[in-house]
Amino acid sequence: MLNVKQVSKIYEGKIAYRALTDINLTIEEGEFVGIMGPSGSGKTTLLNMIATIDEPTTGEILINGKNAHQLKKEELAKFRRRELGFVFQEFNLLHTLTVEENIVLPLTLDGKSVKEMKQKVGEVAERLGITPILKKRTYEISGGQAQRAAVARAMIHTPKLLLADEPTGNLDSKASKDVMGMLEQINQRDKATMMLVTHDPQAASYCNRVVFIRDGKFYSEIHRGDNRQAFFQKIIDTLSLLGGDANDFSSVRV
Ligand SMILES: Nc1ncnc2c1ncn2[C@@H]1O[C@H](COP(=O)(O)OP(=O)(O)OP(=O)(O)O)[C@@H](O)[C@H]1O
Ligand SMILES: [Mg+2]
Repeated sequence: MLNVKQVSKIYEGKIAYRALTDINLTIEEGEFVGIMGPSGSGKTTLLNMIATIDEPTTGEILINGKNAHQLKKEELAKFRRRELGFVFQEFNLLHTLTVEENIVLPLTLDGKSVKEMKQKVGEVAERLGITPILKKRTYEISGGQAQRAAVARAMIHTPKLLLADEPTGNLDSKASKDVMGMLEQINQRDKATMMLVTHDPQAASYCNRVVFIRDGKFYSEIHRGDNRQAFFQKIIDTLSLLGGDANDFSSVRV
């Protein structure tokens, strides 16, 4: 499903900065993979390249065998809209729109009929428990509700690959569990392949596998098996070996 081959990223600037070195990562269809590592280790850089928002300096990224970075601008926009779903820490909801309008945005851009949009938004909202807030503006809802709306928007077109960067970063532990439970359900029920960047070991414990990176390089990976509690403990242990700032263990990003 996803093939990251020998990818490196150098940010050019006054002083060039090497953010990633020779990353190889394969994600099978239907897998739910977490990416962890200290602040500045290159997690968002990696995610942005997979999301086709940014390009690798060297190496190649294939999504279903396709190299999106070789597509023309319009094809790329279509590819992103149809095949990918995104959830960001800052929600990225548009404040002038209602929750419902935000959620249907990917369908609006694809020219779907109003009837189809209504039906889909109804289904998704029901699943995520946000039906009562659909008509509200985004400044009238809580952070947890906003994150659910962002998840709803990311899944309304049933993307093949769902990418999330710190989706629980602004949430308390209850809301965070809700959001992770929903992502898990989308993974299992809709068979969406998912990749999640997170500092939060609790959130990461929902994944099938967690890949750790440090200083832009692959560090190690661990698999969940069938005991989430044991997996959670292994994640904590690996993080402490990995080092980095103590703040990285909280779900708060500065
Ligand atoms: N646009 C950019 N130009 C130059 N350097 C950048 C740019 N974006 C990120 N970097 C640098 O690349 C490194 C990796 O950044 P990245 O955002 O991928 O880290 P991260 O692992 O997501 O960290 P965090 O956990 O704090 O979100 C950092 O040292 C950062 O300063
Ligand atoms: Mg980041």
